[in-house]
Amino acid sequence: MDTQASTSPELEVIFTPEAIAQRLGEMAREVADARLDNLMVAAILKGSFVFAADLIRALHGVGLAPEVDFMTLSSYRKARASSGQVSILRDMDLDVRGRNVLIVDDVLDSGRTLAFAKDLIAARGARAIKTCVLLDKRSKRAVHIEPDYCAFECPDIFVVGYGMDVAHRYRELPFVGRVVHE
Ligand code: IMP
Ligand code: MG
Repeated sequence: MDTQASTSPELEVIFTPEAIAQRLGEMAREVADARLDNLMVAAILKGSFVFAADLIRALHGVGLAPEVDFMTLSSYRKARASSGQVSILRDMDLDVRGRNVLIVDDVLDSGRTLAFAKDLIAARGARAIKTCVLLDKRSKRAVHIEPDYCAFECPDIFVVGYGMDVAHRYRELPFVGRVVHE
């Protein structure tokens, strides 16, 4: 499929499907090199569902067989600016006690969502916790947290696609882009 041809004029491509696939392969090898036995992937929904789906297949490609679970967290609601409050909309099913957990999220922005997830999973007795994000907006950080694995640094722009939305739209796009006109 030609990504450009399928792009409506209102969207500008920031990270192509090819660039994303290449970085996921590289990140999977980094994760494998860390030799985290008994690995569990905890994907933060909704935004990370496409990223997590591709990442776990990249992990399979480097010989890993993680268990996978999901947690739905909300800090954004319908607004584009973070409210600062993180809440659990749906919790994980699996027990993280004694496990090596890889938390997967789409965007590291203020850092509140990832810090909340990390603190929660630590409090539940995980052995070691690593964090993996598709995009890091470093300039927006409000709490001190650095990702262990990051596909791309991202400028301070609101991005959509590859699982990420604005008002529930654009999640289906195979690339990360920005909305130019609305
Ligand atoms: P934080 O808690 O401020 O770090 O926000 C992280 C969450 O906000 C991510 O899990 C995303 O779901 C969402 N988010 C931040 N920036 C964007 C964006 O540019 N597009 C879509 N979602 C975003
Ligand atoms: Mg999210």
